[in-house]
Amino acid sequence: MEHTHRPQRSNAAYARALDLIPGGTQLISRRPQLYAPGLTPPYAARSQGARFWDLDDNGYLDTMMCVGAAILGYGDEAVDAAVIAQIGRGTASSVSSPLELELAEELVATIPCAEMVRYCKGGGEADAIAVRIARAYTGREIALFCGYHGWQDWYLAANLESAHVLDSHLLPGIQPRGVPSGLQGTALPFAYNDLASLEAQLDRQRGKVACIILEASRGAALPAPGFLAGVRALADAHGAVLIFDEVVTGFRLAPGGAQEQFGVLPDLATYAKAISNGYAMGAVVGRREVMQVAAELFISSTYWSDTIGLVAALTTLRELRRRDALNYVGELGKAFRERFNAAAAAHGLRLRAEGLPQQLAIVADASYGDERRSIKDFYVQEMTRRGFFTSFGVNLCAAHTTADLDLLDAAWDEVFPRLAAALVAGDLGAQIETTPSVDAFKRQVG
Ligand SMILES: Cc1ncc(COP(=O)(O)O)c(C=O)c1O
Repeated sequence: MEHTHRPQRSNAAYARALDLIPGGTQLISRRPQLYAPGLTPPYAARSQGARFWDLDDNGYLDTMMCVGAAILGYGDEAVDAAVIAQIGRGTASSVSSPLELELAEELVATIPCAEMVRYCKGGGEADAIAVRIARAYTGREIALFCGYHGWQDWYLAANLESAHVLDSHLLPGIQPRGVPSGLQGTALPFAYNDLASLEAQLDRQRGKVACIILEASRGAALPAPGFLAGVRALADAHGAVLIFDEVVTGFRLAPGGAQEQFGVLPDLATYAKAISNGYAMGAVVGRREVMQVAAELFISSTYWSDTIGLVAALTTLRELRRRDALNYVGELGKAFRERFNAAAAAHGLRLRAEGLPQQLAIVADASYGDERRSIKDFYVQEMTRRGFFTSFGVNLCAAHTTADLDLLDAAWDEVFPRLAAALVAGDLGAQIETTPSVDAFKRQVG
């Protein structure tokens, strides 16, 4: 199963890109240095189902799936057919498409908190819109946040206070260069599953908090009993708008996202990624009273009306339902979790796949200490060699099959004994032939 050659063409192209494209990629999570640099292909020539092929035509079974966006799989026949038909009718005009209405009706029918809808093209944009609406609605300025919410000024302003505020939410040591210093104090953190830390911030900033924004769950991090209901109650008590960032959880955990899964309703929620199976699309939804304020705000962009994203989203949502795809992905995720955990345990490894089956994370036990980085690097290196594009965040999709799990299982059977032996021998570092990976997102964000 091991590939006989490296992704040479992809690596050469990436070397050229570094000269033309600052940072090499548009999304941090696409940087090969986050995986097994040199082995991980920076480029795909094509993708289909749960696989992609690099510029040397090496194929990879993908468990990242476009950072979770391709929930139905790459090149889904139904979504692509709808997009192609839409291209035939026109992708844009000088006025809006009725698809905007059709999708709004679908979202309102599917998402528990949704009464009104606005569109955009991505998750960070959706979050920025939601925070703007919340600030306008409340007439207040402070956003309390937990987790990752995009690249915009409102969020990175958190690090104006110190370059370490976002360390546990995003990445260690982000310098907020380019973010106006006047925004200092407008985005403040609280800790996940820690109501006391949220309450302390609300007390400290009494009467000034516009919104509380968080991911209801993320990978292995699941809400403790009462946490989300407690956040809801605190938001109400302090007159703050509650925003669930459902960019990852939306159309993955359940059709209605984390709010359906956990039974707590936010005022606003943001969506991107899986909403449109790999086509550019984002949405902000929420309670009428709050959303209505957007009518008076300047929130406006040309391509937010693009019909491709609209039709891709509409078709993705309908196909998810028609195929009962999230249940299928959930069953597959359970099997992944069981098989991974059994394989790891069989080799005496304290590695576990955890979290909800639609969005798993592999966790190396804390007792491994500093070796955890090397464990991940070795795992990624050896799985990449065997034709997998995989890491410690796992996003399965409707195009994965039990046969794919068999392939993974066979690879684990080869990789885990070597990992276990290297740990016992204490020479794991020496077995990592690629340069050590760098942190993408501390919380495995895409
Ligand atoms: C929870 C969350 N919010 C927002 C974003 C930003 O979304 P986008 O990359 O579409 O701007 C991400 C991206 O990974 C995310 O995971």
